[in-house]
Amino acid sequence: MNDGGHALLVEEVDVHFGGIRALDGVGLAVRPGEICGLIGPNGAGKTTLFDVVSGIRRPDRGRVLVDGRDVTRRSPAWRARHGMRRTFQRQQLFGQLTVADHCVVAQEWRGGGGGFAADLLASPTRRTHEARRHERAAEVLRACGIDALAGQYAGALPVGQARMVELARAVADPPGVLLLDEPASGMAADERRRLSDVVRRLAGEEGCAVLLVEHNVAFVMELCARVVVLDLGRVIARGTAAEVRANPRVRDAYLGTSLRDEGALNPRTEQQSW
Ligand SMILES: Nc1ncnc2c1ncn2[C@@H]1O[C@H](COP(=O)(O)OP(=O)(O)OP(=O)(O)O)[C@@H](O)[C@H]1O
Ligand SMILES: [Mg+2]
Repeated sequence: MNDGGHALLVEEVDVHFGGIRALDGVGLAVRPGEICGLIGPNGAGKTTLFDVVSGIRRPDRGRVLVDGRDVTRRSPAWRARHGMRRTFQRQQLFGQLTVADHCVVAQEWRGGGGGFAADLLASPTRRTHEARRHERAAEVLRACGIDALAGQYAGALPVGQARMVELARAVADPPGVLLLDEPASGMAADERRRLSDVVRRLAGEEGCAVLLVEHNVAFVMELCARVVVLDLGRVIARGTAAEVRANPRVRDAYLGTSLRDEGALNPRTEQQSW
């Protein structure tokens, strides 16, 4: 591992949308096995940063390194095949696939061996691969507490369960770097606890580097050893949960948001309170 052992390193990233500076010289680093929180008011640039890290958006300036390798010009598919996974802020499930199929499909890119001929002949190797993928899917669904939903169509699930399916799909093929964009939104307290357990285990036992965006600040502070705070495209604070919580700039950024939103305009304002 290079770069002082960082699984993910973001350096001096700028993104402009016309006159808007969505990201302005943003840098952060996540080590293997670390869960790093990324917080900030609405419009701070969190999702834009995820887009840059996952390869959906090319930055105007700056670099993204994974395990010391510069991936800034690599496609999202390339990054995914090298262990990067993400979930999206807006729910992204295939309504007509079952919950179990989401976890099987996530492993299919590895292929079954033997090419087209093996497909046609349903070779034994192919069947073994298939069986292993189904076993892995079942294991992940159990860990996420949604094994009872395996045969259900994803389109029919309430939001908390749908979020959990997104998590299961993201980890079905074990990630090296996992980006979670508001994974707990719409989850009940017991689902949030389950989410925390899964993420902790991934980081602690498998060494996955996790970057987690959440508006529920209490949840982030509990789960993340380190937190980075964005506001209007800039990093305004970073440190342990306690350090960030005590930082007056962070309080000002959040207070500003609450005042701008007048509470009622933003249903998440309540969750943002300290
Ligand atoms: N495709 C786009 N075109 C133009 N402006 C955009 C685009 N995507 C994001 N922005 C702007 O960039 C800024 C950062 O947006 P972004 O979605 O990254 O914020 P965020 O921190 O994820 O906010 P939220 O907490 O509401 O999800 C905002 O001012 C937003 O309006
Ligand atoms: Mg966002």
